[in-house]
Amino acid sequence: MRDKLLLEVNSLTFPNLTKTIGELKLIDTLNIKDQTLDIILSTTSDDTYLTLKDLLEERYKSLYSTISITKKAQKKDMNYGNSTTPNNRAPYAKNVIAVTSGKGGVGKSTVCVNTAIALAQKGYSVGLLDADVYGPNVARLTKTENEKLKWDNQDKMIPAENFGIKIMSVAHTTPKMDTPLVWRSSVAVSALMQFLEDVAWGELDFLVIDMPPGTGDVQLTMAQELPISAAILVTTPQLISTDDVSRAIMMFKDIKVPMAGIVENMSYFIAPDTQKRYNIFGSGGGEEIAKKYNLNLLAQIPLNMQIREGSDLGLPPIALGSEELKKYYQEVVENMLKNIEFNID
Ligand SMILES: Nc1ncnc2c1ncn2[C@@H]1O[C@H](COP(=O)(O)OP(=O)(O)OP(=O)(O)O)[C@@H](O)[C@H]1O
Ligand SMILES: [Mg+2]
Repeated sequence: MRDKLLLEVNSLTFPNLTKTIGELKLIDTLNIKDQTLDIILSTTSDDTYLTLKDLLEERYKSLYSTISITKKAQKKDMNYGNSTTPNNRAPYAKNVIAVTSGKGGVGKSTVCVNTAIALAQKGYSVGLLDADVYGPNVARLTKTENEKLKWDNQDKMIPAENFGIKIMSVAHTTPKMDTPLVWRSSVAVSALMQFLEDVAWGELDFLVIDMPPGTGDVQLTMAQELPISAAILVTTPQLISTDDVSRAIMMFKDIKVPMAGIVENMSYFIAPDTQKRYNIFGSGGGEEIAKKYNLNLLAQIPLNMQIREGSDLGLPPIALGSEELKKYYQEVVENMLKNIEFNID
């Protein structure tokens, strides 16, 4: 009886999605005692909880005298956490990719935006979430900085769109680009949870997240609240940067987030006039780190003036740059798709 009901519940389609409740692993326990149906959901998302509560109560109210649907108590193992069984605040996304680095300013946002667009160019539906709430650059990088926040008739925020991807950044919610956000990290984290839950993303093949630099609250919370399919780690070749990326790698290993590999950005510079190669930030740092931690080197992207100019103007090289520049970001995507078993048809 119980097993049959569990099978049935798991086979129900989640409202407005194509996935089933079972595929989304949303049932923690299900028990029947006398006339009471007791279900504990393995989610901490209010939105998912209320949707499922409505659905299940409506469906089974004629069969049981009491229906108790509760959320599993939030697992807050804050002393480092563990993302082997994360919550899923984004059931609409088949895969979640986190682009991250140990150190700031290494080109994380640039890699993130271009990788997201490269995935869309392959035909996938892609959402890009700017999780760097204190230094949100994604809006400028995608030329959506003048988009103002709009709401749909279900009170969901409508993401901006450009270059074939949907984009959400805290920059879209502030009156001016230079409005500083003076937020405690707990407020920043809850704003991000709102971007996950209250944005009309639609169904996504990939939700790509531009993480803030470092190994702080946002990184940990994201790993606990989302099943991250793969992290991309961005570093520059010099030691200071590879030291910091090592810390990020250790953290992801500890909290069991799969890593797609390393992108070595600003790897070298080819002088446009003489074609001479300069290793401005040293050489081999990305390769060494990849070898040391048994990770893949996804790409080595040169320091290139067109990348910087395109980024400043909101004209991402993957969409508007030369074929040579596009190749680097396509390489990131191809190597990542090779290394990680994504949930794609
Ligand atoms: N390969 C590259 N060649 C030239 N300039 C680059 C390259 N990659 C990034 N940049 C430039 O370097 C600067 C920093 O890049 P970006 O903002 O992507 O870094 P970040 O790691 O996201 O920084 P933060 O830690 O502040 O979020 C930007 O001006 C960007 O245009
Ligand atoms: Mg950034």
